[in-house]
Amino acid sequence: MNRKVTIVGGAGNVGATVARAIAEKELADVVVIDIADQKAAGIALDIYETCPILGSDSRLIGGGTWEAAAGSDIVVVTSGKPRKPGMSRDDLVKDNFAIMQSIAPKLVEHCPNAIVIPVANPLDAMSQALFRLTKFPRERIIGMAGVLDSARMSTFVAMELNVSVENVHSFVLGGHGDTMVPLPRYSTVAGVPLTELLSKERIDAICKRTADGGAEITKLVGTSAWYAPGQAAAEMCEAILKDKKKILPCSVFLQGEYGVRDLFVGVPVKLGARGMEQIIEITLRPEEDAALKKSAAAVKELVDIIGM
Ligand code: 2OP
Repeated sequence: MNRKVTIVGGAGNVGATVARAIAEKELADVVVIDIADQKAAGIALDIYETCPILGSDSRLIGGGTWEAAAGSDIVVVTSGKPRKPGMSRDDLVKDNFAIMQSIAPKLVEHCPNAIVIPVANPLDAMSQALFRLTKFPRERIIGMAGVLDSARMSTFVAMELNVSVENVHSFVLGGHGDTMVPLPRYSTVAGVPLTELLSKERIDAICKRTADGGAEITKLVGTSAWYAPGQAAAEMCEAILKDKKKILPCSVFLQGEYGVRDLFVGVPVKLGARGMEQIIEITLRPEEDAALKKSAAAVKELVDIIGM
């Protein structure tokens, strides 16, 4: 295996889930880095020991040093404090910004050519922080949020209609926060728009549950979700490593697209070997556009707090 993905914060639940998902699909070798270096080594070894059962030749190494990360194709940054019940993602901004400040120089030193997938919350602001601090081109900093939010929406649609999740395709734009913008008009079941299949009341309920999806899990489990966030980051890795040109909603640095400038916000992008290869601009109705602008304004408030 000559592809390499490094997971920073990989001893945490989300990071370990990404590592496992990559090894399970034999997408790349995986380096697990964490300040909890012994735990990182143990998690890497535990996942490595699943590989004979899975029939995967991914190799995993874990520990606290960045040397092993050199030459990584992708670095997934899952470090950061998770939410506790009752907290908003935005409550983490200062603490997790300090963590991004400690990671950015290591990224620049050891992985100057890597594509970076930020996962820490508040997601869009932390993506902007890594972008500004590393000075990597915008094509190589791609925040994970929309894949997770769309997966949550698809789950709720499949539950509501009692159909296969494979038939559901959901579309969520905007910041990864309470103001995210699920787009029912562009969400489909076997190609049929959701708006043709469900009443406005049911659709509104699904959109609200989607926006509250992270809080719902946090309340039930006592900490942030990890299975779906980890799987979502792994899907982005797969699209990049296989140069799939897959269109996925991701948080990227907009420079006028969707009328938003100099800010990370979730929009549909094409993911391939070069990272974010294209921003797909779709037509929004005035009320959808207003919701996206409101969401962007919420991201801007956080970005201003950290001066990024
Ligand atoms: C979530 O929505 C962790 O932000 C993540 O579950």
